[in-house]
Amino acid sequence: MRMLVTGGAGFIGSHFVRQTLSGGYPGLGCDEVVVLDKLTYAGNLSSLSPVLDDPRLRFAQGDVCDRETVAEMVRGVSLIVHFAAETHVDRSIADGGDFVRSNVLGTHTVLDAALEAGVDKVVLVSTDEVYGSLSEGSAAEDRPLAPNSPYAASKAASDHFARAYHRTFGLDTCITRCSNNYGPYQFPEKLVPLFITRLLDGLTVPLYGDGRHVREWVHVDDHCRGIALVAERGSPGATYNIGGDTELSNVRMAGTLVSQLGLDESLVRFVEDRQGHDRRYSLDDSRIRRELGYRPSVPFEEGIESTIRWYTENRSWWEPLRAPAHRDLLGTSAER
Ligand code: NAD
Ligand code: TYD
Repeated sequence: MRMLVTGGAGFIGSHFVRQTLSGGYPGLGCDEVVVLDKLTYAGNLSSLSPVLDDPRLRFAQGDVCDRETVAEMVRGVSLIVHFAAETHVDRSIADGGDFVRSNVLGTHTVLDAALEAGVDKVVLVSTDEVYGSLSEGSAAEDRPLAPNSPYAASKAASDHFARAYHRTFGLDTCITRCSNNYGPYQFPEKLVPLFITRLLDGLTVPLYGDGRHVREWVHVDDHCRGIALVAERGSPGATYNIGGDTELSNVRMAGTLVSQLGLDESLVRFVEDRQGHDRRYSLDDSRIRRELGYRPSVPFEEGIESTIRWYTENRSWWEPLRAPAHRDLLGTSAER
């Protein structure tokens, strides 16, 4: 079976590809992987280096918005796992244009190509951020969408297209909505890798607002196992939340990273808050647990320890990506 993975040179997509090719998902029965990735600032071929020589992998640099390229890539493909997207909330606040293009138009192009080529199944990888901020409780899949950032709005639009292609054309689409991921090979602009890499360089880390915003954390390996289960056995047209069991305030996450690195809390600096900053995300993922037997298996303490170790031992991966603090990069004001 041939699978197309879009965005397979990104953080989560590359993990999914490496795991697939090292036999992590035998139930998928996949013996050929085609990766289509534009290699934006967030895409990195070196994240695929452990499998780049594998004869079962074909890599193509290209844009999911390009109809001809996508049509060529889906030829002979049975399954598409669609990761490709612009993903950083702060960048979407600075300029949402690429988010509309890649996340909305890109998904529409992939769905059209899948329909035309008779692809058996498309799994759209989405996010808990489409549900918006929750003051209490957890969001189940039938909760109305209330995206608050331009990133979340573009992902919600993408979800709607996947649903509509199932309802209108009968295309077998599944949507997964996962909480915040952490793990190796994550671009050092997101909270966990930004903080680890700055702390390793003896720099301060910028905590937005009062730092009491809560995120649900899941190791990338658990997320990808959930996606594989949905690809294998998810019901056509269904949505599955994928959670991680670990809700933490940002101030606690920062404290954990600082203390695991044996550093002083004074390195954590409170800076101006993100605009429209969602206070809390929390997923009810009982459906995927009940129907597909999913359960996160990486305990947070172990996962964060091995992630810190990976960044410590793999400077050569992240040093070239290290930019000025990303808010500086985006031209907005922030204390360093
Ligand atoms: P990432 O930013 O690390 O990687 C995105 C990849 O997509 C990059 O390789 C990039 O080059 C590629 N890409 C972007 N635009 C493209 C285009 N137009 N055509 C082709 N390729 C393009 O992102 P990630 O963290 O790996 O996230 C992957 C998916 O998972 C996204 O859809 C994201 O919304 C979703 N998700 C992420 C998280 C998280 O915590 N990181 C949580 C839930 C869901
Ligand atoms: P992030 O990793 O950008 O993921 P998301 O916004 O998609 O949840 O941010 C996680 C949380 O950490 C979020 O509440 C914003 C906060 N944050 C900071 O406090 N400082 C930072 O430098 C970054 C990047 C994020």
